[in-house]
Amino acid sequence: MSTVREVASILRKFTFKELKFLKLLGRLTKSFSIIPYSVLRQRSGLSNGDIEFLIKRLQDYKLIRRSEIGIKLLSAGLDALALHSLRVKGILDALGPPIAVGKESDVFEGISPKGEVYAVKFFRIGRTSFRGIKRARGYVEDRIHEWHVINVKSAKREFEILTELSEKKCPVPVPIAVAYHVLGMKEYLALPLFKIKKLDDPLKVFEKALEAVKKCVFEGGYVHADLSEFNVLVDSKGDVLIIDWPQAVKLGEVSSKDKLLRDITNLTNYFNRKYHLSLNLDEVLLPFIERF
Ligand SMILES: Nc1ncnc2c1ncn2[C@@H]1O[C@H](COP(=O)(O)OP(=O)(O)O)[C@@H](O)[C@H]1O
Ligand SMILES: [Mg+2]
Repeated sequence: MSTVREVASILRKFTFKELKFLKLLGRLTKSFSIIPYSVLRQRSGLSNGDIEFLIKRLQDYKLIRRSEIGIKLLSAGLDALALHSLRVKGILDALGPPIAVGKESDVFEGISPKGEVYAVKFFRIGRTSFRGIKRARGYVEDRIHEWHVINVKSAKREFEILTELSEKKCPVPVPIAVAYHVLGMKEYLALPLFKIKKLDDPLKVFEKALEAVKKCVFEGGYVHADLSEFNVLVDSKGDVLIIDWPQAVKLGEVSSKDKLLRDITNLTNYFNRKYHLSLNLDEVLLPFIERF
C-alpha cells in the first residue's frame, strides 16, 4: 500500500478519467465491501476495456485491490480522494512532514496555496485492531469498508464539534475543512502533555487545563470523554488546547456526567502522579458536580 506522501505525489499524475473512476469507487464503497464488476459497469457507463485499463492503473498505484468478485478500495485510495478534495477546495497544496503518527490517526503538516500551515489529521480507526485480526483470520478483509465508513463519520463529527466549540471561543483547534476521513485544522506550536519532559509551572498548567475543560463543558456544551495527557496540548507559554474530539458527548446526555468526572479524574491523577502536586480529587471535582 502506498504511504500518504506517495499518494500525494501520485495524485499530481492523475488523469481526469482516473479521478472520476476513483470517486465512483469512493461512493460505492459506502455500500459494498467488494464492488462487483457488474455494478462498476452499470454505474460507470464505461466499456469493459476502459474499466480494465483504469483498474490496472489504480492497482499499479496500490490504491485498490482486485479479486475474482470485484474491486476493493484500499485506505491509500481513500487518502487519494481526501487529498484531492482538499486540493480542489483550495485548502491543501502540499503535504509536509508528519507531526504525529498515532494508533488511530496520522497527523501531517499541510501547506495551503497561500502558504498557511495546517495540521491534517487522517483517521485510521481500526488500523491496529484490523491488522491483528487479519493475521489471525483471513476473512476479516471483507470488513475494510466498514472502517472506511467509521473513519469518514469520525472526521466529520470531529469537524462539527470543533466548529461549534471554536465558534464559542473554547480553547480547541480551529477547524478548516473536512474531506472523507481527513480533517484539516490550524496547526499549533504545542505538544501533548505526555511528550513534555518537565513543565516549569505544572500547577499553573493544571489550572489552565481545568479552566479549558470547564469552558468547553459549560460554554461549549461538550464533554470530551477521552481526556488524558495525550489530548491536552501545551505551548511554550503554558497555554492549553484540548484536542481529539470525535467521541465527545453533549452535556446533558445520560452518560455525560460520568464521562466528565472520569475526564477530570484522569487529568488530576496525571498531574499528581507525574508532578507530585497532591491535588485533592474531591475538591477538584466539586465545582463540576455542583453544576449538574
Ligand atoms: N491542531 C494541531 N496542531 C498541532 N499538533 C496537533 C494538532 N492536532 C493534533 N496534533 C498532534 O497529533 C497528535 C494526534 O492527534 P489526536 O487528535 O490526539 O489524534 P489521535 O486520535 O491519534 O489521538 C497529537 O498528540 C498532537 O501531537
Ligand atoms: Mg489523541
